[in-house]
Amino acid sequence: MSIFSKHMELANSPDKNHRQKSDLLMGNSFIRELLDGTEQGDFLGLDLGGTNFRVVRVSFKDGQAETTTQYYTLLESVLCGPVAGVFDFIAESLADFVDRYSLKNSRKNIPLGFTFSFPSSQVSINQSVILHWTKTLRCPDGIGDDPVALLEAAIARKAKDLPVDIVAVMSDTVSTLMAGNYLDRNCRIGLILGTGCNAAFVEHISEIDKWTGDDKDPQHVIVNVELGSFGDSGCLDEFRTEYERELDKYSNHPASFTFEKSCAGMYLGEFVRLVLTRLIREGVLFGGKGEKLTEGRWKFTTSHVTSIESDQGNSTTKTMEVLEKFDLATTATAKDIAIVREVVEVSSRRGAFWIATLMAVLVNHVALPEVTIAIDGSLFEKHPKYHDSMMEILSKFCSKSKVKLILAKDGSGQGGAFGAVSALRQAARDLRSA
Ligand code: GLC
Repeated sequence: MSIFSKHMELANSPDKNHRQKSDLLMGNSFIRELLDGTEQGDFLGLDLGGTNFRVVRVSFKDGQAETTTQYYTLLESVLCGPVAGVFDFIAESLADFVDRYSLKNSRKNIPLGFTFSFPSSQVSINQSVILHWTKTLRCPDGIGDDPVALLEAAIARKAKDLPVDIVAVMSDTVSTLMAGNYLDRNCRIGLILGTGCNAAFVEHISEIDKWTGDDKDPQHVIVNVELGSFGDSGCLDEFRTEYERELDKYSNHPASFTFEKSCAGMYLGEFVRLVLTRLIREGVLFGGKGEKLTEGRWKFTTSHVTSIESDQGNSTTKTMEVLEKFDLATTATAKDIAIVREVVEVSSRRGAFWIATLMAVLVNHVALPEVTIAIDGSLFEKHPKYHDSMMEILSKFCSKSKVKLILAKDGSGQGGAFGAVSALRQAARDLRSA
């Protein structure tokens, strides 16, 4: 907790040399307005996170937000090809959505918020600069580009005359926070526990030493922490295990995103596989057999972990289903099964403790009597014990706040449309958005 606080402070400094020493971004999202239930009309959200791409329409009417979502799957070849290919795919999917829901006949352009979940430095509410690729994206180009300009160019190439205005770009943590705050007014933190992991929180402008914007009302802004890269300076080395080091070596982006690789959905399964591999090699598990597992890098996924964790009490049905996939169901003894379950449980708890530790720092920083953390992402949604493990840490270290964790399902896509609402409101109030 203290190392993380120190890095938050450094990232907040007006001195660039101090900021460079921090592993965190603590980026200004330029989003200052949270929704208040009075919104009306149709807004669009796009959500590019790593595995799926989503287009979302939110129709606000009488204090209700009705959401229509369409998923599109990005092919592996697109994920590692030129960045223009990724954005062409987005433009084509958006055109499909507009067609499918007959939005072309709208009398005026529909405001759109783009949830772009890769580290970026925000220049204004609808302009940012891509800093690195993470997770599943491995484009050879795109770093230094603006995702909004890339999207506009792709729309011009592939889907001219789309009736949309891209008015906001934001991190999925920011959009999840907005979606969570719509569900629960005490929500001050948005957290993603999916392929990657990261958080955003509502900060008072007076607390931001590096703030250069205006000080009009509202006197707060959403800050994107970019905590996945925490540890990249080596500050967490003493806590890292041999499994994380090996996992990093074979990951898409080695030597980066240290913290994310300790707990996010893209990595937890591989972490467990590496522990099991060591136990097999030492002859402790499956009588030393299990080639499909020991040789199957990245084949043991986080959905296998959540499945094994779903076995309750003495039931082993789910665990056996997973072992079957690795040709181990007939080899496994009762002791082997118990060991597998324990490895999965300990690794999951460790991940949940890691992230909850950072959340405890944010909750104490927000320092309100009640703080809700809205969480989106399949790891939190599907893991049966993640909530309780996180609460163990939060209850221990956040004695001054009543903390609640809520699932903001698809909040990152829906919140993109919410961000578009904020952008229009801020423009109407002449708040500086750059
Ligand atoms: C990665 C990205 C970050 C995003 C997170 C969750 O950590 O760098 O921007 O918020 O994944 O999707």
